[in-house]
Formats: sequence, structure tokens, C-alpha cells
Amino acid sequence: MTSLVEQSKKSAAYQAVDDNLKPSYKIIGIGSGSTVVYVAERIGQLSNKSQFTCIPTGFQSKQLILSNGLKLGSIEEFPNIDITFDGADEIDSDLNVIKGGGACLMQEKLVASCSKKFIIVADFRKKSPTGQLGVNWRKGVPIEIIPASYTKILKELKEFGAVKAEVRSGGSAKAGPVITDNGMFIIDADFGAIPPAEVSKLHNKIKFLTGVVDVGLFVNMVEKTYIGEENGSVSTMG
Ligand code: 5RP
Repeated sequence: MTSLVEQSKKSAAYQAVDDNLKPSYKIIGIGSGSTVVYVAERIGQLSNKSQFTCIPTGFQSKQLILSNGLKLGSIEEFPNIDITFDGADEIDSDLNVIKGGGACLMQEKLVASCSKKFIIVADFRKKSPTGQLGVNWRKGVPIEIIPASYTKILKELKEFGAVKAEVRSGGSAKAGPVITDNGMFIIDADFGAIPPAEVSKLHNKIKFLTGVVDVGLFVNMVEKTYIGEENGSVSTMG
């Protein structure tokens, strides 16, 4: 039986594709995570799917494109993307989002920044109940870093007010750090609730630290969000 969360991911993804994928589009960005699975599935059902070239945001995304019979392209060949669909870990009232729960934030941001439209698809747990980031998503802001810089950056994040900051591990003491598709580490830094007006400032401070590759705060990038609600409906913002 499909769970409520799973059904809400599917409804949000299907509606986002149905509302936004115009026949004139050629290049589509495909994000990462468990909600975007349904975006690729929906695009794969279209009779005109062969007209689209899909740009991945990581290894999982590439597999999704191929397994749904879609044409795979690269960001190097196609830096002008018509539309990108991606998931989110939390969404605030200004449509700023936390991303990187799946450690793909760098390529996700690269593809989003090359896109004319950036659409977020998510289940009901991702909308912040207070309109601030860091409320439901308590794992912290994901930050991709160069491995050798982790001691320095952990110290600097604590000076910036992080109540907790740690290198993401593979789940057990033996597993060691998670390695991203770019060969980097991820730090998760918990700053508590971040008011929408402060997100950009925090992003810029972290991004400026030597050793940081990119930050999982996406500021002023999202055009529209599709949220699958608990009652089965899909709500939109933007
Ligand atoms: C991966 C991401 C994902 O898009 C984000 O974690 C949401 O994933 P899901 O759709 O599984 O909840 O940013 O780096």
C-alpha cells in the first residue's frame, strides 16, 4: 500500500510536470532525491518524451533519466536549461529552500542556476510550519567542502553561531565521511530557525569561507513550489 507521504510526493511531482512542461521546451534539469523519482516517471510517460534532453544533478539523477527512457545530456553541452524540477528539505515563506539532504547540492545548484524556471516538488513535511528554515529540518544546513578544510570550517561555523556542526558520516563509526559525487565532504550545520530575511546573509558568509564548495541554502532561485498535502490536494506557492 502506498503511504500518505509517498502519495503526496507523487501528486506534487505529477502536477508540477503537467502544469509546467511546455511542448516548446527542449532541455530539462532533473534534481535528486525521492520526490524527483516521480518527476522522471511522469516525463517518461509522455508521448513526446524524445524531444527532451535531460540534465542530471548527480549519479542517482542520471540513473533516473536513463531508467525512464529519457535522453541524457550534460550541463557542459547544455548550459541553457528551460526548466528544472527538484526536491527540497525545507521551504520558507519567501521560497528560500534548504537542499543537500542527499549530498547533491553543488550539482543541483549548478543546474538550477542555469535554468530559466526552477520548480520545487515536495511532500507536506517540507513546508516550514513557522515560515522559517531550520524548524522541521533539524539536521542542519548541508555544506559541501574540500576534505582537508573540515577542521577549519567546523570552527568557523561555530563562530557564526551554529549550535551543532559535524561532518556527515555514512551512518556508522566505521563507514567514515560521506563522499559527494564531486569527491568532497558534507558538513551539516544547525543554526536553529533562520528568519527569511537572514537566509541570504548566512548563505553569503558561509560561501565566502575558504574550503567551501557550496552551501545548501538556495536563495531567490525558486519560481514555484508544489506541495503534496496530507488531504491529497496539491498546494502551490510562487
Ligand atoms: C538532495 C536534495 C533532495 O532534493 C532533498 O534532500 C529532498 O529529497 P526528497 O525528495 O527525498 O525528500 O537536495 O541533495
